[in-house]
This record gives sequence, structure tokens and C-alpha cells, in this order.
Amino acid sequence: MGYLLGLDIGTSQVKALLVTVEGEIVGSTAQEYPLYAPRPGWMEQDPEDMWQGTVLALRKVLDKYDVDPSEVKGIGLSGQMHSSVFLDKDGTVIRPAILWNDTRTTKQCYEIESLVGKRLLLEEACNPALEGFTAPKVLWLREHEPENFTKVRWLVLVKDYIRYRLTGELKMELSDAAGTLLLNVKQRQWSKTIMGKLNLPMEILPELVGSSEIAGTINPEAAELTGLTVGTPVVGGGADNACGAVGAGIVAAGRAMISLGTSGVMLAHLDVPKLPNGGTIHMFNHAVKDRFYMMGVILSAGLSFRWFRDQFGQMESVLAESLDTDPYVLLSEAASHGTPGSQGVIFLPYLTGERTPHGDGNARGCFFGLSSSHQRRDLVRAILEGVGFAFRDSFCLLQQAGWTGKTVRCIGGGAKSRLWLEILASILGLQMQTLNVDEGPGLGAALLAGVGTGAFADTKEASEALIKVIDTIDPVEKWHSLYLEIYQVYKSLYPALKPMYDQMAKLF
Ligand code: XUL
Repeated sequence: MGYLLGLDIGTSQVKALLVTVEGEIVGSTAQEYPLYAPRPGWMEQDPEDMWQGTVLALRKVLDKYDVDPSEVKGIGLSGQMHSSVFLDKDGTVIRPAILWNDTRTTKQCYEIESLVGKRLLLEEACNPALEGFTAPKVLWLREHEPENFTKVRWLVLVKDYIRYRLTGELKMELSDAAGTLLLNVKQRQWSKTIMGKLNLPMEILPELVGSSEIAGTINPEAAELTGLTVGTPVVGGGADNACGAVGAGIVAAGRAMISLGTSGVMLAHLDVPKLPNGGTIHMFNHAVKDRFYMMGVILSAGLSFRWFRDQFGQMESVLAESLDTDPYVLLSEAASHGTPGSQGVIFLPYLTGERTPHGDGNARGCFFGLSSSHQRRDLVRAILEGVGFAFRDSFCLLQQAGWTGKTVRCIGGGAKSRLWLEILASILGLQMQTLNVDEGPGLGAALLAGVGTGAFADTKEASEALIKVIDTIDPVEKWHSLYLEIYQVYKSLYPALKPMYDQMAKLF
């Protein structure tokens, strides 16, 4: 028996997924770690917590499934995109990682646009300067923590850091490098032009490695800690969205997925690179060799639901424990007793600012249209619908960029809610599809390990062979027409609120 391991270094937890070399899922373990918000708009994590979590998740998965470590033929990593880990000359972490959903860098984004020029940035990085991306975080460090900045010898992303701890080899994988804004995406190499214009030294950028290329092998120290065998190959892996796409079969033109995790992502495969509508949605290198994808990102999709559960869902949390179920199941059930349109309440899911389509770190969440007759279930439903409207923003941009599909594959924790999928299908007017596997990025990472170690011929073939659609959810016609009308109101709320968002940002 041979196994592959997929590690997904997420925002709330690390997950270790065990798969046979034939691609059959054996099981997984997860280990949570803390998320810090030291100031409004700031989001940080300690890379050491991620490493400790990874060690534990690996030990647990080997133990739980009674795996002989020498039977692990390859390991792949996936991780949250853009989140910066700064290392000194000894490879030691200098400060907490600044995450993809951190919005402190608005000023640095303007700086990048003026230093590099919007046109050149789009030509080389294929994306505009947005707060979540990595380059603005480097400029922020230079401006606000000069002492830390002078210590920086290497810039890496979280999964590349974990791979470094596993193997001792410091490399950055291509699909993730695309999210730094420092890569020439079409040429698949670091952009000397952008680095030069930003006055940043090329030396801080590690060697690039392909997604299914072997980037190193488990070193003795990591073996001792995790129980893995010295010499086990570790491939480059991929950005979580690229790996999620591989793990959902989004490996051919026309295919698209929705990922309903902490963030919400609507992503479509591209055979050739294109600049979607002047950069209003992202365009990155795929984990499928020489392919690309475009996507819109909602910063607080699952996070909005989680926020409600944590702040107002104590009753469901207690009840869920006694019923041995999940508080989300109970909250979704309450929402299902509400009516489409949530009796006139609209939720704007901008809890941590918004990426697509506003690119605005100052935007904030809002319940619009509250009256004394509203009940909790209306608010829960409004959250599910508000995230759906935010997806419609991305969907419209994908359509403008030429995507003409009628079906979308759904992954992520939120995709477990049938009601949420019905709402999405009805808001988008598209068929939602669920899959035989819902392991998302971890599965993509394991498949990449399989390709790199010869278990599969290539990523596309592996993904096509294993991933199947098992259920479909069609739009409810009556809901669809109502939602289209409400969407017009939803769309007009952000521009109306924008001046107030900026005013409040000066105060808090
Ligand atoms: C994508 C993005 C998020 C993170 C979540 O650009 O910022 O989807 O990758 O982990």
C-alpha cells in the first residue's frame, strides 16, 4: 500500500489529508491555531503556531490510520495565499505573518501603482495592487518597521515556510508566487522590473518551483518531530485556490468553482492567460502546468457566518452539543424557515473590507433594512444571501471576461449547507454541483504529490479521473426573479456608503 499526503495550511487550521496512491481518500486530521487581529483591519498569525499545528496534524494522521511512514510516497502542500512570512539570514521568522485578509496597506497600494505604473503592473503581474497581496505588505514593513525590514533576508508564503521546515529547502511555488504581485505571471519568473521600481532587492525572492515538481525531501529534524521518514519527497504544491481547483476538477476550459471557506472564491479555469476586464478580477498561474485561472474573492464569506455564530449563536452552539450536531446546521435550519429576501433585510458581507469588486479595505459589514418585525432567522438568511449577492458581483465580472458556463462546482465548509447552495443557485441563475469528494485544497495538494512522484501521469488526468459530480442544485425560478431585483438594491448600497466608510476609517 502506498500513500500520498496533502497538507492544507489554512487560516483557521492545518489539515493533513491521507490518500492512497490510487487517489482514494483514507481520512484526515486537523489542528487549529490562533488568528490575531491586533487592530481593526489587521490580521496576523504566528508561523511557529502553523508549524506546531502541522507537526501535530501529521503525527495524528499517521497514528489514526496506522500508517507505516515509509509507505508515504509523497507530500504536497497547499496554503492561504499572499500571507507574508519574513525570514532573517538564519531562516528565523522576524515578525508574525501578515495575512491575505489584512487591510492595513491601502497607502502602500497607491505607492505601488505610482512607482510601477498601473499599466506595467497589469502587464507583468496581471493584477492591480490590492491590500491583500504580498508586495504591499513588504512596503508596509519597510515604512513602519524599518528595524525588521533590514533583517529580511527571505520573503516566503505560509505553505512555502512549512515546506522549508519540513525539508530545509527554501523555495516559492509558482501558483502562490503569482499572488505576490512580484511575479511576471505570463513568463513565470520573478519580475526584475517591478522589484526594481519598488527598490526591493531581488535576493529576498527564493528560487521558484513548479506545483508538482519535487522541492525537497523530509529532513532528519522534521522526521523526528512528525514521524515521517527521512527522504520522503515533498512537491511544490499550490495556492489554496489553485489546489482547491485541482481537487474539484477545475482543470479544463469552461469549468468553474465556488469555494465557500473563510473567504469566498469564484474561479474559472483558463487555458491561456488573459487580463480579465483590466484587472477587476484576479488572474493567476494554475497548479496545472502552464495553465491559468481567473477569480473574484469575497474576503468574509464563511467568516460572516462564523462571526454570527460566535457573537449571536450561543444558543445554537449549546444545543448543537447536546444534539451532537453542528451549530451551523441549526442556524441554516432557522434560516430555511425564513423567506427569500429575508423580509427586506440585506447584509453587506464586508466585515474585513472587500476585495472583488471594490478593492476597499475601509468597507465594513452592514445589515440594511432592519425593522422591529425582523427575527434572528431573517438575519441569518440575510447573511447567506448577502454572501450570494457578493458572489453575483464576481460572477458578472467573470461573464464580462468571457466565462459562459452554466454550472459551478462547489467546495468548502459552506458547501455543506444545502440551503446556502439553493440560495447561490437562485441568485446566480446557475446550477450548483457537489462532488464525490469535498476535501478541496488538501486533495489537490495530495494529487500534485502523486504527479511529482509518478503515481499519476499529470495533474489534469489525475483530477479528471477521480473527481465526479454527485448532486446538482438548480435555481428556484421564483427566488431567482426576486433576487435579481434585490441585487439592484444591494449593488447601490456600497457606492452610497463609500463616503461614510472613509469617514469612519479615520476614526477607527
Ligand atoms: C485569494 C485569497 C484567499 C486566500 C484564503 O486571493 O486571498 O482566497 O487564499 O486562504
